[in-house]
Amino acid sequence: MKLNDAQVKQFNEDGWLLLPDLFTPEEVGVLSAEAEEIYKVERPEIWREKSGAPRTAFAAHLYNEAFGILGRHPRMINPVEQLFGEKLYMHQYKINAKAKFSGDVWQWHQDYGTWKRDDGMPEPRAMNIAIFLDEVFPYNGALMLIPRSQTDGVLAAGHDKATTSYPLWTLDNDTVQRLYDKGGLVVPTGKAGSMLMFHGNLVHGSAGNITPLPRKIVYLTLNAVSNHIKKPTRPEWIAHQDFTPIEPCADNALTEYARRYKIAAE
Ligand code: SIN
Ligand code: MN
Repeated sequence: MKLNDAQVKQFNEDGWLLLPDLFTPEEVGVLSAEAEEIYKVERPEIWREKSGAPRTAFAAHLYNEAFGILGRHPRMINPVEQLFGEKLYMHQYKINAKAKFSGDVWQWHQDYGTWKRDDGMPEPRAMNIAIFLDEVFPYNGALMLIPRSQTDGVLAAGHDKATTSYPLWTLDNDTVQRLYDKGGLVVPTGKAGSMLMFHGNLVHGSAGNITPLPRKIVYLTLNAVSNHIKKPTRPEWIAHQDFTPIEPCADNALTEYARRYKIAAE
């Protein structure tokens, strides 16, 4: 799996790239089923909305075999290594639920702002990956991106601890308006198994999900090993401190897992 020149150009200019249908329905089906089981468990890594619905499950690659395989998958690792030109480690791993009828908003923000302020990450050389576990439509809480906003660097942000159950460094409306006037807005949608890559400084957010359609997305942050964090303030399961380079698994590892899982369920 190697990005072509047009894909590299799109990422470098616009700050995002969608790879539709990168994982098969069989691969993504088993991940979706496992995610629903994970959300049923009470543990500190699982955050809930104010309503009680699941919001996000952190660090599932460390306690679930299927998500462990996904975190080492060559179809995800290789393109990011290609763009950064070096080995990667996992900075953060979450499965965001955006539950049907009750998934809450993610306000407008940049991720690198948080990695810099809270984790001491030196440079925005960490890639955001979103792997769709459900089909993402424009209306079930899709992620919205402001193309080219990554070129404005780290923007001033306020720490919003009130809007949702999850504290977040968020941008004010004037900043979002200014960036929108320059770059517009895109809403990458696609089937379960599609993968989105976006720059750590790209401004993004998502609306609530009042539809009867769940919108689970795995968000992984792959950091260049030389850019490892220097001043962690958050728990290890939110901002990992194991900087060991990821060795990719076999391309068929998730398919093999899905077949074993199916046999076990029969
Ligand atoms: C995020 O930006 O970290 C999550 C956004 C979402 O799940 O819609
Ligand atoms: Mn984000």
